[in-house]
Amino acid sequence: MMPVAGGNAAPFHIPARYMLTSILCLVGWAILLPWMLPKLVSAPLSYPVIAWVHLLTIGCIGSMILGASIQLVPVALQTPFPAPRVAEWSWVVWMLGIILFEIGFSREILPLLGPGATLLGTVLVGYAIAVTAMFIAAPHRDAVAWHLLAAAWLAIIGFVLGWLLALTNVNGVLGGRLLPILAAHIVCMIVGWIGMTLLGVGYKLIGMFTLAERHLDQQRALASGFFVTTGTLLILLAIVASWPRGWVTGGAVMITWGVIIAFIEVERMYRKRMRKAIDIHMPFAIASLVAMLIAVSAFVIVSTESTPLSQPLTITAVWIALIGCFLVAIQGFFHKISTFLIWLHTYAPFAGKQPVPQLDSMYDRRLAYAGLISWLFGTVTIAAALMEWLPLWWGWSIGIWLGTGLFVVNVVRIGRHWFAPMLSQPAGTRC
Ligand code: HEM
Repeated sequence: MMPVAGGNAAPFHIPARYMLTSILCLVGWAILLPWMLPKLVSAPLSYPVIAWVHLLTIGCIGSMILGASIQLVPVALQTPFPAPRVAEWSWVVWMLGIILFEIGFSREILPLLGPGATLLGTVLVGYAIAVTAMFIAAPHRDAVAWHLLAAAWLAIIGFVLGWLLALTNVNGVLGGRLLPILAAHIVCMIVGWIGMTLLGVGYKLIGMFTLAERHLDQQRALASGFFVTTGTLLILLAIVASWPRGWVTGGAVMITWGVIIAFIEVERMYRKRMRKAIDIHMPFAIASLVAMLIAVSAFVIVSTESTPLSQPLTITAVWIALIGCFLVAIQGFFHKISTFLIWLHTYAPFAGKQPVPQLDSMYDRRLAYAGLISWLFGTVTIAAALMEWLPLWWGWSIGIWLGTGLFVVNVVRIGRHWFAPMLSQPAGTRC
């Protein structure tokens, strides 16, 4: 297996901080779920809901993408990370940005929104520049590289729109254009940044974990990224230039087509994999891809509505994309990536000299699968409640609580190997 760390990666404590931030935000978001669920339906644009949504999107998903990218992009592009010292500071700026943004919305101290958003954007711009520098220096620019480059710059467009939204809450700069710009912001961030990152990183990691890397058809993977990116840009243009609604639907169909190609490609990689055993990440990745297909199909339907933002299907599609697709993929890949990195940090120097734990003994596979089932139960029941097919009952959150709890147990099981006693003793005395 090609390692998820190597000479090119930044020191592990930098991504580790982002990943820890991500998990803490996930726990905070999940705890609040039963209280926020009714508000999500009755007042989706109220300040507490926006704060809660961004605890997940920026705090959890954004932090995980940044942490994982600092670790994985240099490995994927076979190029050293350009500025580890800047990356070290970026976490402090990112944290400050999250704190100001969250206090600004949750406590309704609106003057904090501009500075908070600006700090977040500073980190995203640094991230896009770093990815671009590595892309230019990379010896090979394959489909994964193009996905990561497109995702980084779509994040910048999504941020500029988000920054304008933050300002308009203070000084009304957008006037009557708030809702279209909000729609553009959501599409850009969810499909453009997170979706494209997930597809690019997914091709790389699935190939590495199952020894199927050479079976990735570069042309098809490039085509899937092209359709998703072009569809996103088309939707942005159509919204900003107030083109007829058909253009937005056209963009949504292009995105769906890109996701279908990605689905077929991943299915082929799994079929042709050299490592035949079911790897821990596989059920997570498959569930995540199915959720992605459902979300983009719902998006095509929503795009034909005259007032898409007020449709229950819109909130449901966003829910399925964030909770059913991205969070499930993050959990699946986290079991592999964190285990490998911590193993490398703690045990690699002793491998071959004395007994060291095996990678998959560092977490409990049954807990991971039980967590996945609970999480999916929570995702599906809440999606049905958002569609008004089930009563909007706080108890559906228990699935997400249990899923989060079991995931965190495994995170702690993996994390404690970082502090394994082997580290503090001279090499000859360890067992
Ligand atoms: C990077 C910095 C970001 C900034 C500055 C930002 C800013 C904002 C602002 C100000 C709003 C509220 C608009 C209003 O007044 O109604 C908003 C809404 C929203 N944003 Fe962001 N955002 C950011 C990142 C993200 C990301 C990464 C995602 C998704 C992955 C996201 C998804 C959403 C969603 C779904 C809403 C609607 C929330 C609701 O209906 O309660 N945002 N954003």
